[in-house]
Amino acid sequence: MEIYLMTWPEVESYLKNKKHLILPVGSTEQHGPTGLIGTDFLTAWDLAKAVGKKTSTLVASPLCYGMALHHMAFPGSGALKPSTYIQVVKEIIQGYADQGFRHFSLINGHGGNIPSLQAAFSEILSSNQDYTLQLFNWWHLSSVTDYEQKNFGDANGFHATCGEISVTMTCYPQAYEKKKTFEFFPTVKKTAWPLSPGQFRKTFPDGRMGSDPRLASAQHGQVIFERAVDEISQRLMET
Ligand code: NI
Repeated sequence: MEIYLMTWPEVESYLKNKKHLILPVGSTEQHGPTGLIGTDFLTAWDLAKAVGKKTSTLVASPLCYGMALHHMAFPGSGALKPSTYIQVVKEIIQGYADQGFRHFSLINGHGGNIPSLQAAFSEILSSNQDYTLQLFNWWHLSSVTDYEQKNFGDANGFHATCGEISVTMTCYPQAYEKKKTFEFFPTVKKTAWPLSPGQFRKTFPDGRMGSDPRLASAQHGQVIFERAVDEISQRLMET
């Protein structure tokens, strides 16, 4: 049920019965010395595909770049400014709305996107009161946080978390076959926010924020993934 593998007549026919679209949004940014740079859009996209299948809902192509300016001192990261990101999200949603979609469920993989997504939602809803916009920050789901708290405790951290790295280990095992191991040390827990790219790298020198990714595993990732798919699907079906 992914739009990029369909033809336009198929999408037109879907719209005769259903107006619901899932949009995966994430980021392309460093995830510590052992996590994949694509973590945030890969997790959002894979969850979106599974939720789309389970609920028979169409899935749009993912928005792979997000508001990640604070990660830009780490090579490989890419980012959009908040004002750009808000505009991009609004234009993608408005374009699909013009074709007849009315219910939009965004599955998000990146915390830095949240304020901009909320701002985009406010702007869209101010002039389109018949749209339904839903935001799922998958790592905030109660079934996910319960599991992570039990299995990782505080070592889950806030960025390059054990949970998100576990999910990528499940979905992309081949990417981990030749990764080096690193020494891990405790990182600062609290800091002023937001930080500039340079301040971020100085405060969190290897990119992690409080996590110990050595606890991550594909087995944990499988459980977290299934919990997230179930919880999102259930809430999505209720709308
Ligand atoms: Ni992440």
